[in-house]
Amino acid sequence: MEEPKLLALLKSKKGGFISGEAIARDMGISRAAIWKEIEALRTLGYTIDAKPRMGYCLSSTPDKLYPWEVREGLPTRFIGQSIIYFDEADSTNNRAKEALKEAPSDGTVVLAERQTAGRGRLGRQWYSPTGSGLWMSLILKPTLAVADIPKLTMMAAVAVRKGILEAVQTEVSIKWPNDLLQNGRKICGILAELSGEADRLSYLIIGIGINVNQTAEDFPEELREIGTSLRMALGRRVDRRRLLQTILGQLEEEYIRVSSEGFTGVLAECRRYSATLGATVTVSNGNTRLTGVAEAIEDHGGLRLLLPGGKKVTVYSGDTTIEKR
Ligand code: BTN
Repeated sequence: MEEPKLLALLKSKKGGFISGEAIARDMGISRAAIWKEIEALRTLGYTIDAKPRMGYCLSSTPDKLYPWEVREGLPTRFIGQSIIYFDEADSTNNRAKEALKEAPSDGTVVLAERQTAGRGRLGRQWYSPTGSGLWMSLILKPTLAVADIPKLTMMAAVAVRKGILEAVQTEVSIKWPNDLLQNGRKICGILAELSGEADRLSYLIIGIGINVNQTAEDFPEELREIGTSLRMALGRRVDRRRLLQTILGQLEEEYIRVSSEGFTGVLAECRRYSATLGATVTVSNGNTRLTGVAEAIEDHGGLRLLLPGGKKVTVYSGDTTIEKR
């Protein structure tokens, strides 16, 4: 999806007017065609003032994640340089899987303003209303072993945490394996899915959902106690585009770091900013539920629990509930 030429022209005037005549000359189109294009931009949500004898002026940009808006000023070399955008999608992870047929480049990002069937872990739904969150899937072609996948999703949590801190100066903690919490409530969830053969990974899809601009009332009743948004934490709306760009920048930095140096840094951050270590937690995985004190995040990414009888068990995946600190 390329930026409409007329939009680029209006932007080049930096809030000033450009005459219809100049646009017609520059774009080689008629006055009637200009009007049609102006209307198309207005439909996308851009506010364009039109004044007789002065022409047209771009006076506001919508809160939308159009690929050309995200790419403008994006501090990355490859992550997010290719964007697949949907106003509405069932789930960006599903759309990312679909996109694999076209052999997408490493770092392609699938974005949706709204998901109608957003998926969480353990078959749960992920509530994804229009325009108030970041609902995205990152497609990676890692050259790493399948055993490293859990650590790659931990890497995503570390990068999102850093991105949030850099963009809006708010600390969030990491609930093992890869949820982000603000004041004990969930602000971000990550759902990684693989494609490829058992031992040879071809693609990894990392689905990331971040609650950005919802108010408490926007959450369905059953999520009000457990979910939160950056807006609720900060008491103001957050610029989703800038937040996304910062997070994509951090994802790229972490991905490059992991590819050259391994996971030592990621694991250190997971431990340092952990909401889990030291707490009594229950880890559920399918039919298994284990409750114990979270003692350590081991070097392979597993969580070591000290069970009530004194036995120690390491779990490798699952959903964690914090029972007591
Ligand atoms: C969880 O915490 O259970 C994981 C939630 C993951 C949600 C994101 S939103 C973008 C991507 N598309 C989905 O359908 N799910 C992930």
